Amino acid sequence: MNSDTSSPLYQRQQRALWLLRAAGILPIVTVDSIAQARAMAEALLRGGLRSIELTLRTPIALAAMAALKREFPELIVGAGTVLTRDQIAAAEQAGVDFLVTPGVSAGMLLPLAECPLPVVPGAATPSELLSLIEHGFCIAKLFPAAAIGGIAMLKALHGPLPALMLCPTGGINETDAAGYLAQPNVACIGGSWMVPRAWLQAGEWEKVSASAARARAMIDAARALAS
Ligand code: 3PG
Repeated sequence: MNSDTSSPLYQRQQRALWLLRAAGILPIVTVDSIAQARAMAEALLRGGLRSIELTLRTPIALAAMAALKREFPELIVGAGTVLTRDQIAAAEQAGVDFLVTPGVSAGMLLPLAECPLPVVPGAATPSELLSLIEHGFCIAKLFPAAAIGGIAMLKALHGPLPALMLCPTGGINETDAAGYLAQPNVACIGGSWMVPRAWLQAGEWEKVSASAARARAMIDAARALAS
């Protein structure tokens, strides 16, 4: 674990942890247009969620990030699916608050550790998590969470890696989200169930708002239980 608390990476990891804890549940959104991104942000904010991960999976993603940061100052925007050095730079340029990756290749370890933004690097195995810890990370996205064991995997990791905080993502839905949130090594959970692409494409903003409001209630209930 990174014990040098004055190192810039340690500070950025603490900020990433703070951002994830503040989110509690992070909607993972893929948008096809800026208009869709705006309507999605409004719907999520109406439901009580203030943080998103916007994936770099569509050509419009970077422009959408920049527009959301300009037009919704209260919205925390993470860039998701960051796979390359160029994407790190482009997301930074778009003004996002943090970066998320689904995994980390050997060549991306250093660029992510040196990136001036808070980073939530992805990992799926104990060895990948240990490699992240060795490079100074103390928070990671556990992906694809459900496929690699879900809550049982989180419980198993907590024994040998008690200080590591995780954001499980991938295959989580409204039914099992509360069980994930209750794990001591979970800072936040990510998922697209509040913002399925079909709803965004059909303009079903009331459904997005209602799902966000149910997620908000789940976060508040988990906090009340923990306090
Ligand atoms: C991700 O990018 O983390 C996943 O696509 C989100 O997974 P989900 O769609 O299964 O929630």
